Amino acid sequence: RNVYYFDSLSSTNNKAKEMALKEKEGTIIIAEEQTKGRGRLGRNWVSPKGKGIWMSIILKPDMIPSEVAKLTLIGAAAINRGLEAMGINSYIKWPNDILIEDKKVCGILTEMSCELNMINYVIMGIGINVNLDKEDFNRELKDKATSLKLVTGKKIDRKRLIGNILNHLENLYIPFKERGDISKTIRISREKSILIGREIRVITGDKELIGKALSIDDEGQLVVEFKDGRVEKVFSGEVSIRG
Ligand code: BTN
Repeated sequence: RNVYYFDSLSSTNNKAKEMALKEKEGTIIIAEEQTKGRGRLGRNWVSPKGKGIWMSIILKPDMIPSEVAKLTLIGAAAINRGLEAMGINSYIKWPNDILIEDKKVCGILTEMSCELNMINYVIMGIGINVNLDKEDFNRELKDKATSLKLVTGKKIDRKRLIGNILNHLENLYIPFKERGDISKTIRISREKSILIGREIRVITGDKELIGKALSIDDEGQLVVEFKDGRVEKVFSGEVSIRG
């Protein structure tokens, strides 16, 4: 594998973007710490030194931009399976968070560059709170986030976990890239979904939907049912659980 390892970066996603055009697909950028780690919706991502997995993967799928949301699902499924291989059970909060005991341990930030309705490259940024301690979470994060060390009570081998995740990622990504097959990812997304059956609120584009998460369809869209029985599908969005 083509892996670049850094002691400190502003953000592995930024570095991956700088390198993407000249590096080949599958190149991985890892940093021990990020000084300006980025989350979705312009949020900051706490990335203390040596305590997490802060990494970005350069992908070059030959497809149209609207397919990119599926890559995030592939990433989430791979992380779920990678954790399972370490004996750690987790859930997927569609489309891009991994939760344990209802708290976030991992987020994915997928960014892309495209031209003429074709993808140039995709950066899949993965942040996993591996060995963070209580003190690493500020007031605001304490109730919402946790680390693998805090939930399992032991220090986790980051290298082993990275290896497990990348193996699963490859297994899920290749059939998708080669023949558009995401069936295995969808199966995992459904089986490990924390949303299905729950009352949720989704913010997608400029719309807010409140309803019950019914399922995830074969294309990876979240199927939401409203009080009046109407059903709508959501391609991507920011979800919160209401009950
Ligand atoms: C989110 O849940 O909001 C997404 C968090 C993504 C964090 C990772 S850490 C590695 C990569 N580099 C970044 O700056 N962000 C992603």
